[in-house]
Amino acid sequence: MGKIITVVNQKGGVGKTTTCVSLTAALREMGRKVLLCDFDPQANATSGMGVDKSLSLGIYDVLLNEVEPEKRVVPTRYGDVLPSSKGLAGAGVEMVGIQDREHLLRRALEKLAPKYDYIFVDCPPSLELLTLNGLCAADSALVPVQSEYFALEGLSDLMYTIRAVRKSLNPHLELEGVLLTMYDSRTNLALQVSEEVKRFFPGKVYSTVIPRNVRLSEAPSHGVPVSVYDPLSRGAEAYETLAMGSPSAPTTGPAGAARRTPPWRRSFCVRIRSKRKEEFPCGKGKRNGQGPQRPVGRGLFRRFFHTVLHPAGFPDRELPESAEKEL
Ligand SMILES: Nc1ncnc2c1ncn2[C@@H]1O[C@H](COP(=O)(O)OP(=O)(O)OP(=O)(O)O)[C@@H](O)[C@H]1O
Ligand SMILES: [Mg+2]
Repeated sequence: MGKIITVVNQKGGVGKTTTCVSLTAALREMGRKVLLCDFDPQANATSGMGVDKSLSLGIYDVLLNEVEPEKRVVPTRYGDVLPSSKGLAGAGVEMVGIQDREHLLRRALEKLAPKYDYIFVDCPPSLELLTLNGLCAADSALVPVQSEYFALEGLSDLMYTIRAVRKSLNPHLELEGVLLTMYDSRTNLALQVSEEVKRFFPGKVYSTVIPRNVRLSEAPSHGVPVSVYDPLSRGAEAYETLAMGSPSAPTTGPAGAARRTPPWRRSFCVRIRSKRKEEFPCGKGKRNGQGPQRPVGRGLFRRFFHTVLHPAGFPDRELPESAEKEL
């Protein structure tokens, strides 16, 4: 039976979708069976996984038209997706008349859970009925927190909601962990926020932090996860470390249990990065359309995944043009 992890924070733009997409792809590369359920009407996770959100009503059909969930699962190279659509925006109102409406998602995902190791649910930035469904369906909640001042506001509301859900609707709900995202280690603010968050959630903050990395924000515009767009970027590496964390859990254990990137991979990445800088100083050649394009997947590490772990392989893509230098 797969573990259902709801990625939740009512604050917008903190990295919920990026975390869902990147972790799904990282775990898939590691050979796990993973489903990403996009439960946000914005459908960012759907398009981030390269699925056309206009093709079906996805999870809306499952919840309100009683379509079998397997029929709406879209397989991709980076993991399976239960897509979202704009229709989901009105679902909150349409669900009001339905009995036991907080458990609609749970009933749908229970049918799919035996087929997967992990199911991630990407929640919208609110604490309304959709998010409530996400929490009722989950075994645990993963909370991404942006490493900025305002990120701390609202965390107590979120914890209040989680406690209320645990008390009355889903007694099995646990806090999987709190993930610091968009972390800029050059600023004192990031450090202060990290200390505040650790004080607020003692023993629950992952020691792996997700750095602010431009590759993470570029990847969705190409409809691929960062591990495909630029597998050697710091963002891809951080999510990979998080996914590698523990054999039993999809993410690194809270505070201190994280496994660091193995030394052989670190030195490999350093070598590749310095070579890349020689070829593409500041990426200017690419910006002007000059110079060769670096195919993604040239590295030995990726080849190992392609040929040994994933004989079917990931697409050997050309690296899309990037206008900015990696942070
Ligand atoms: N670590 C990061 N470094 C740089 N940019 C990031 C990082 N994580 C996310 N982003 C970018 O920040 C924006 C918001 O991220 P994302 O969509 O994952 O947040 P969200 O919490 O799902 O937002 P929403 O609440 O609207 O659903 C996106 O443009 C994304 O590409
Ligand atoms: Mg989102």
